Amino acid sequence: MRRKFIAGNWKMNLDRASAIALAQQLAERSSHIEGVDLAVFPPSLYVDAVAQALAGSRVAWGVQNVYHQPNGAFTGEISVAMVKDLGCRYAILGHSERRHILGETDEMVNKKVHAVLDGGLTPIVCVGETIDERESGRTMEVIERQVNGSLAGLDAAQIRRTVIAYEPVWAIGTGKNATPAQAEEVHLALRKILADRYNSEIAQSVCIQYGGSVKASNARELLSQPDIDGALVGGASLKADEFLGIVAGALA
Ligand code: 13P
Repeated sequence: MRRKFIAGNWKMNLDRASAIALAQQLAERSSHIEGVDLAVFPPSLYVDAVAQALAGSRVAWGVQNVYHQPNGAFTGEISVAMVKDLGCRYAILGHSERRHILGETDEMVNKKVHAVLDGGLTPIVCVGETIDERESGRTMEVIERQVNGSLAGLDAAQIRRTVIAYEPVWAIGTGKNATPAQAEEVHLALRKILADRYNSEIAQSVCIQYGGSVKASNARELLSQPDIDGALVGGASLKADEFLGIVAGALA
């Protein structure tokens, strides 16, 4: 039985004080919650402060991106060791905004996935099609290419430690979520890809989150789909009530 995993990607939002305040609210108000994993992803500059607010709570934390090299002349980048130093358990990799705005390729994402796994952290690897790709019937082809490219070279033990997030680009930040049936169809296809590459037991064990306009009002029906194991939440994770409403939907 896979545990539900609800993660808040704060993206490039909040300031230091409001990031700490949000983390404190989540820490306090989640103390009684059992049976679901929780994590937030602040802007890297605020991870240290947020980590202090979340220490000892039910909420883990991570980063929205990392570089694959261990150290050196890579101006502006941060390493897996630095991220571990701040107590991060997770790193989001290959988010569509990084792929489409900042030009990350599957090959770059793959290097990061290996670095994160080698460092003992859990990567959350994002995949998802654009509206043009969906409307031209290429969704599954795009997903398969991204999975095979981003997760190339992972052995069975490594894929078990990897979280996949299906985030259709057209659903991100638009208020227009994939329907539960649309999301479930892709999640099932992802398990089939994993079953073909590894085996069905491994395919069943991997946590696959859905992301794209998840909110308290639609969380329950999305998260009740058999192959949707959690949510990667953007906008709605910036408000404690909404985020905790999504968590309630996961437990319903
Ligand atoms: P929204 O929930 O704002 O649509 O963002 C989803 C997302 O990109 C999470 O990584």
